[in-house]
This record gives sequence, structure tokens and C-alpha cells, in this order.
Amino acid sequence: MITASYEGDALKGTIRVPGDKSISHRAVMLGAIAKGTTTISGFLAGEDCLSTIRIFSQLGVDIERIGTDVTVKSPGITGWKNPVEALDAGNSGTTARLLLGILAGSNVTAEVTGDRYLCKRPMRRVTTPLKEMDARFESDHETGTLPLTVKGTQLKEMSYNMPIASAQVKSAILFAGLSAQGTTTVTEKAVSRDHTERMLRQFGANVQSEATSVSIVGGQSLQACDVKVPGDISSAAFFMCAAAMVSGSSLTFQDVGLNPTRTGIIDVLEDMGAKVSIKETVGGEGEPYGELTVQSSDLRGVEISGSLIPRLIDELPVIALLATQATGTTIIKDAEELRVKETDRIEAVCSELRKLGASIEPTPDGMRITGPTKLKGTILSSHGDHRLGMMAAIASLVTEGPVQIEDASCINVSYPGFFDHLNSLTQSKH
Ligand code: S3P
Repeated sequence: MITASYEGDALKGTIRVPGDKSISHRAVMLGAIAKGTTTISGFLAGEDCLSTIRIFSQLGVDIERIGTDVTVKSPGITGWKNPVEALDAGNSGTTARLLLGILAGSNVTAEVTGDRYLCKRPMRRVTTPLKEMDARFESDHETGTLPLTVKGTQLKEMSYNMPIASAQVKSAILFAGLSAQGTTTVTEKAVSRDHTERMLRQFGANVQSEATSVSIVGGQSLQACDVKVPGDISSAAFFMCAAAMVSGSSLTFQDVGLNPTRTGIIDVLEDMGAKVSIKETVGGEGEPYGELTVQSSDLRGVEISGSLIPRLIDELPVIALLATQATGTTIIKDAEELRVKETDRIEAVCSELRKLGASIEPTPDGMRITGPTKLKGTILSSHGDHRLGMMAAIASLVTEGPVQIEDASCINVSYPGFFDHLNSLTQSKH
């Protein structure tokens, strides 16, 4: 149990949040698929990305990590070996789903598993379309969940209309398409994060994007390269929301990722009345990043729905907290995907924020929050979900009395050093 006691503390200063989780996973994966040496700087050394490193090491890729610098020396996908033990993705849905797509067209046979939370999460969203490409999966249960055994084989091309906006599904199919015969095309309902497409291009692949469709020609080989991982805007979001809602705050984030498929949080903060300023450093084909400053202000409730949802899906727990401090009603809809994240984030967010006295109701595809409410500290559970754990800690900035957080160690999944940042940015001594 961790006690978070930061009542009314304004946040001031400058931080660099740890590297982007989505980009860190992909850098290791593409480095392992490419023959040669890939270097990664700014890698996120959180539990999820460490699971990805461990898995590709088991496949025979030589990966060395010193802090946030990683070197991946690979014989290329055709040189991988069958792992002796199951590949354990831990808590990481991204690792598991992207891996299923990568292994489907490899020469390898491997069992993929995960922790008790991941083994309950749906995998058919990737295995069903991959089977249309001739992928082979075996399991001794009918639930479609992990553990699953993948028997790598020659895949065929496919055109697939995705029923959900999911970068994990899109990426699994694009990775499978890279080893398939012919051209594979994926079409989304709304554009999800495009890190896979951008990084495939960085590794020399020909990937065509047009509106909501992405196409890849199979049989291309990748060129090992150097990848710089910017700070994770989904991690920064906790402190962005904190700075927006605690009076007297002004926080600057350096080298934070500003990929437009991820910046929905900035749009929402501005819509709610927060003061945000942005200085973009790099644009173009790579990953844009830059400096972001957020200052506190009076906030108002807003509606968050439609194509905005995939651009801020992971930020919705902390946005729900923020909405408890805004005047009026915030409605979150079209976000049923929250029900199949690390936990059912609609039920978990509503139940935890209610314990603090918030006026929040779950709906089938989101939630309704009315504010502003003066919250009261109590014991909250993380539900084993890193983003719920961080939401609880940030809540303590606006509660009367401390918030005690059960099972807070899961925060290391995406944000090692989270409490060090929280302590250094708040004004009182902890
Ligand atoms: C991710 C995609 C999102 C996101 C997850 C990371 C990725 O999931 O919630 O934290 O790296 O591709 P979905 O694509 O399933 O929505």
C-alpha cells in the first residue's frame, strides 16, 4: 500500500517523461525482424517493454540494454530459433498481439502466454483475421485467449476491414503482411496510432497510407537503423491533467511525443479551458516531438467521442478524474474498448472515483461525470492496472486527506520513477 498525500500542491517545473511505450515495443520488434544492428535511445525500461526484450532474446536475437539505450543485433526474422520455453508477454497486450502477427509468418513455433490479466483479454481480434491469411494457432481451450501456440507458416495477402479502431490489430496484420505473399491492406473505422507504419518506413519498408487504409507489400526486407524514442504523451497526460486542475501549476514537458494520432489529450485540455502551449521540434515521416507547457485554469465539462477516442484511449482514466474538477457535465462515449483494457476501465474508474465522492456513472460505452466536486481521500485499488494506480495518485492532489493505493507496484508497467517525478514537481516536502 502506498500513501499519496499531496493535497492542493501546485505542480511546477520541467520534466522529461520516460520513453513512449508503443514506440519502444515496436523498435525492439522491428530491430529483431531486420538483419543487422539496430540501436534504440530513450527506450522505456518499464515492465511491458522489458517483456518484449525478453521474448525476442528467447527467439535468438542478441539484445543488450544499458538504462534507456538498447542494442538489437539480429540474424533477421528467418534466422530466429524455436524458443525452449513459452514466450511470456506479462501484462502487455501490445507485446502479445503484435507478436502473434509477427510469429504467424515466421519459421518459428512458439507458445505465447501472459499474466492473469492478459490471459483474460481477447485475442480473437487478431487471430480471426490472421487465420484468413492462413495463420495457424493452437490451444487447448475455446476462449480464444492466451496461452496460444503459433505455428509460423507462409501467409497469403488479405484486405481487411477492421471492426474496431485498434492499432494493435492493425499492427499485427501489417507485420503478418510483411512476410505474406502479395499486398495486404487494412482499413480502419477511425485512424488509430500510426507508429508501426512510421517505423516500418524508417526501416526502409514501402508502406502506403491513404485516408483510413494502410497497405504493405509482402517479402520486403528491413534495414536495421537507429531509433530515437520520444517521451510518452500517455505518461505525461497524468501530469498534464494534474497541472490543469491544481491552481497555481505550470509544468513543462521536454521531448514529449506529439504524433497527431496520440494528441487527443491536448485537444481535450484546450476544449476544457486549460492553457496549453506547444513547440514542435521535428515533423515529417519520423515521430514528431517537442516541448509542451500546461498551466492551471478554470475547467468546463465537454463531450469526448467519435474519432477522438482512439487518439486518447489510454488517457481516459485521468481525463475522468479531471472532469470531476470541471464545471458541468463531461460525457465520454464510443469508448467501449475501455472494457477490454488491462481491466474493465469503465467499471474500475467509476468505482474508484465514486469512493472519493465523485459524481460519475458508467454507461455501456463510456461514462458521465458531473463536477466540480470536492473529493475526499480514502483507500483505492489499482485493480492491477498501471493507469488506474497513477490516476489514484494524481487524485490525491485534489482530495481532502491522503489517498492510499493498494497494489501500486503495477505503475512500473509504463512509468518507472512516477512517484519520484510527482515528489519533485510538487511544492511540499515528501
Ligand atoms: C497500443 C494501442 C492501444 C493502446 C495500448 C497500446 C499500441 O490499444 O490502448 O496501450 O501500442 O498499439 P488498441 O490498439 O487495442 O486500442
